Amino acid sequence: MHTRLLSPDDQGLAIACDWLSQGDVVAMPTETVYGLAGDARNATAVARIYEAKGRPSFNPLIVHLPDQVAAERIAHFDESARALARAFWPGALTMVLPLREEAGIASLVTAGLDTVALRVPAHPVAHALLERFGGPLAAPSANPSGRISPTSAAHVADGETGLGGRIPAVLDAGSCPVGVESTIIGWIGGKPALLRPGGVAVEDIQAVLGREVVLPEINPDAPNAPGQLTSHYAPRASLRLNADEARPGEVLIGFGEVDGDLSLSPSGDLTEAAARLFDLLRQADAMGRPIAVATIPERGLGAAINDRLRRAAAPR
Ligand code: TXA
Ligand code: MG
Repeated sequence: MHTRLLSPDDQGLAIACDWLSQGDVVAMPTETVYGLAGDARNATAVARIYEAKGRPSFNPLIVHLPDQVAAERIAHFDESARALARAFWPGALTMVLPLREEAGIASLVTAGLDTVALRVPAHPVAHALLERFGGPLAAPSANPSGRISPTSAAHVADGETGLGGRIPAVLDAGSCPVGVESTIIGWIGGKPALLRPGGVAVEDIQAVLGREVVLPEINPDAPNAPGQLTSHYAPRASLRLNADEARPGEVLIGFGEVDGDLSLSPSGDLTEAAARLFDLLRQADAMGRPIAVATIPERGLGAAINDRLRRAAAPR
């Protein structure tokens, strides 16, 4: 695949929107770093983000929106969240908030959590793209997993250290003015917590809130902070891996030739399987029986799927 550099004019934005509407991914400039954007409502598009980044696990992604009105359709805001939005949006602040059930966000975006990370970016090109696309864009930093975040289109398009050859297009708007990722704030037990330091100073956030922002405790069971997400979404039912067939009473989630009550992908397509993973786990869990899952190959997105399944199957 050839990665095209698009100028951020009317024509470039139109091409970017075409890719996004088809469920593909496009790198976009934001004031913090370049993001790899996909339609947050389209599970296949979100799976392609993970695929292009080569992420070994499904960390939840930030959903980008054009304005507060659009953000309120996705998550529940209380007074303190609104105060932060008024003070820092558009800008380098991300807030983790309770997801609205009717928001229509693909469960792969939130890794099955009932919270969602939202941001209204200030960059004029990101804003123009969001306005024109007319839907929420999930976008992690546009770098291969484990590499440094990109602050120019050239970083993104690099074939060695970037995503060159792995994504169709990058909107090129030069270098990012902030250059570090957004600050992430969540609420833990009603208290504002710093989940990731970033482009907005925590002192400024405390000044707006009129209270201290706490540092989250390292707790592997609290899926609140980046890097602490060992338990993303654990089904209530027990989970058995590498199943060839269902044992009595089990719901079987199949893949490829292993045909189950549900199937991650009858054709054995790992992108499709990733896109369906969290929804199928929920569906199987709702049946109230033990769950068995077919073997998923460890290549490509299979590594991330297996990482997620192993966590869900871990004794608790
Ligand atoms: O500046 C930025 O924030 C850039 C630009 C592109 O907007 N985006 C970015 O996204 O840094 P990403 O995916 O690299 O970082 C998202 C972080 C992850 O560390 C993730 O764990 C956390 O946000 N996160 C997302 N949703 C969450 C949730 N529901 N609960 C807790 N943490 C969440
Ligand atoms: Mg990142």
